[in-house]
Amino acid sequence: MSDQIPTVNPFGQADDPIPMYRELRECPIGRMDFGQKRPSFVVSRYADVRYVLKNAEIFSSCEAIDIGNDRPMIPLQIDPPEHAKYRRLMDPYLGPREVAKLEDDIRKLTNQIIDGFIDKDQINFHEEFAVPLPCTMFLRLVGLPIEDMEMFVGWKDDIIRPDVEWGDVEAAAEIREKTGAKIYDYFGGVIDERLANPGDDLLSEFVHGEVEGRSLTKEEILDICYLFILAGLDTVTATLDCYFAYLASHPEQRQAIVDDPGVIPAVVEELLRHETPVQVFPRTVSREVTMHGVDLEPGDHVLVVLGSANTDPEEFEDADEVHFDRQDNRHLAFGGGPHRCLGSHFARLELRIALEEFHKRIPEYSVLAGAGVSFSPGIREVADLPLILTAEGARQ
Ligand code: HEM
Repeated sequence: MSDQIPTVNPFGQADDPIPMYRELRECPIGRMDFGQKRPSFVVSRYADVRYVLKNAEIFSSCEAIDIGNDRPMIPLQIDPPEHAKYRRLMDPYLGPREVAKLEDDIRKLTNQIIDGFIDKDQINFHEEFAVPLPCTMFLRLVGLPIEDMEMFVGWKDDIIRPDVEWGDVEAAAEIREKTGAKIYDYFGGVIDERLANPGDDLLSEFVHGEVEGRSLTKEEILDICYLFILAGLDTVTATLDCYFAYLASHPEQRQAIVDDPGVIPAVVEELLRHETPVQVFPRTVSREVTMHGVDLEPGDHVLVVLGSANTDPEEFEDADEVHFDRQDNRHLAFGGGPHRCLGSHFARLELRIALEEFHKRIPEYSVLAGAGVSFSPGIREVADLPLILTAEGARQ
């Protein structure tokens, strides 16, 4: 049966993925050929993606990703029920009430960053806003030195987007392994230091945290740090790139935000849905299961395409279009099921404040004429986003 399944490539069109998502959904289970021993199946419709995410006992995260890590990253690569014990420790620190305390700090930092370029006519949005805002906030939250931001961002880029020919899996693995070793080495030192001198940062909380009445081992803390540095430093940057690339080329929607900032919480959700910065992620089948007549065997790989799920007309009316007044927006941009994003409240707060403050002070902007806007596949960032800041008189 699996020989008759069409081969698809969900990484094909990061710049304008919506037509690709439409094609993917035409065949509910596709096959991706990466040259691995086990088949990789691609799941693209909303209901099927939700099914995979919710059924962690069939679709495991344990061995699904190898990105230079020596052991499973915690909690992403731990299956239930063990997974819950780590989430019980971590969730309270990133819950809505806890992150709300960061609002003033985020707003102040956003304005300081805008002060740095308010008098310019042109900026590279990615470098001058999308990187420094969330990365500074994240490093403050976990208690890592801001002056080392470039080093941390370089590490996470080497892991998430290694600079190799597309499809050169071996070269990518080599870069990831070398970078992974640096991350373990660095955090090994930081953990020792926090054990001796606890601070009031998140890393200190984890270092001194307990699961099931015992302290975390050093390896467990390292496995949390490995994931955190990647998850915390990349996704909000990529999401800001997606938002502003979209708004800079859709002046009516940008103006709607300027005219009524009250719409911004809905903008945060609708652009998360429409742009879906994290396009895909993997699972491994751990129990036989049949989906749409295709038998999946233990060990098979499954890629869920969040972007095509989020633009599935079976779930969302007029799904390919952006509507800030959309009702019942049950998008899956933060995943779903037990591994649903731990940082979603923090991310949403940063995104809301970034949209509020930027539009308050810079109500008009556009992409530099002739500049090609190119998105990276997998996690969609725009490393070069030249924005022209217009309407001089209106800037504050
Ligand atoms: C808009 C920004 C973000 C997006 C779109 C996003 C997206 C996601 C997605 C799709 C997952 C599920 C992965 C899976 O099930 O395999 C996830 C998990 C996770 N995210 Fe985020 N994320 C964002 C921001 C953050 C931030 C800022 C942090 C840290 C402060 C973070 C920490 C995590 C962690 C630790 C997990 C694993 C949770 C678990 O396995 O239980 N994320 N994220």
